[in-house]
This record gives sequence, C-alpha cells and structure tokens, in this order.
Amino acid sequence: MSVKSILRLGDPTLRRVAEPASEPTAPDIQALIQDLTDTLAEAGGIGIAAPQIGVSRRVLLFSVPEARATDDPDDGAWPLTALINPVLEPIGDDRAIAWEGCLSIPGMRGEIARWQRVRVTGSMADGQPWEAVVAGWRARVLQHEIDHLDGVLYIDRLDDPTRFGFTEEVIEAEAAARYDDRQESRA
Ligand code: NI
Repeated sequence: MSVKSILRLGDPTLRRVAEPASEPTAPDIQALIQDLTDTLAEAGGIGIAAPQIGVSRRVLLFSVPEARATDDPDDGAWPLTALINPVLEPIGDDRAIAWEGCLSIPGMRGEIARWQRVRVTGSMADGQPWEAVVAGWRARVLQHEIDHLDGVLYIDRLDDPTRFGFTEEVIEAEAAARYDDRQESRA
C-alpha cells in the first residue's frame, strides 16, 4: 500500500489509548497492516504499532531477528507477525533489563526493565486467535508495542534517567564500560 510517516515524541496521537479493531479481517485493518509492514520495512525496525503512523487502533507488528535472540526456549527469532487486539499478562515476577529504542524517538536509547515472560493473546491478520508464552526479546518487543496501544512510550518506564541518551554515545559508553570490566578482571 504505502509508506507512512512515523509520528515522533510530542505528537498527541502517540499518547492516546487506541480503539480495538472490531473485525481483524475488515479491509481497513488489512490495509493498515500493509501500511505498517511497508513503513517498518522502510524505517528498518523490529516492530511498530498503528498509533505510530497516526491510526489509533489496536494493531501492531513484531519480529525478533536472529541476532537478538537469547537461549530461553520461549525466546528466539520470530518472523514479522501482525497482532490485532493483543492482551498481555505477565508470568512470574522476573524482569530483564536491556537497552531499547523506538522509531518515534529516533536516535535515542533507554535502559528498560520488562517482564521476562508473558502470555499474549490476540488475533492474527487472518482473524484466527493467537496465543503464546514468550520470553526475552519476544516478550520485550511485544511489551514495547502493546504499550504503544495504551499511549505509553519506553521513556515512561525509565527507572534511571541517567540510562537514557543518544544511541552513539550510549554504545560508546557501554563499550568503554565493558572494556573497563575486562581490565579489572585481568588485574
Ligand atoms: Ni516504539
């Protein structure tokens, strides 16, 4: 269909609670999924939610690339998948911390704690129900995208404001910290 422009932090649509999509197979929802797919391919990300292209409906895309996968059996690479009206429920109390970015906050990263394992239910693009227990990056991406449907951005979940910054500086600082760790372990 078409590549849409991605709303950035400050646009009020990103802060709205999105409306459910009453019929996943309806033509407008199918067109929305295609627009999200085209926009994500152009932008180069691992997930996107409808409010990010200005459509306040509960529709998202998510994926996990091979490089991000961990060895948790409920984690791992995942092909790009559309979910409609997803509902998330944490399993257990474990949280995992990792750096996240967002297409609506370009050029920046923040360190965010997310549930390590969650159960997600929803509908797929063909209208079939979807249910899965996911962990690690699968769980992280889904929590990030479902937050978008509730008007929540990752910066709202920063525990430590000093763990937020421009991607290049964060990567440089993290690499320097790892180097320092290695030096210490040799001493
Ligand atoms: Ni995002």
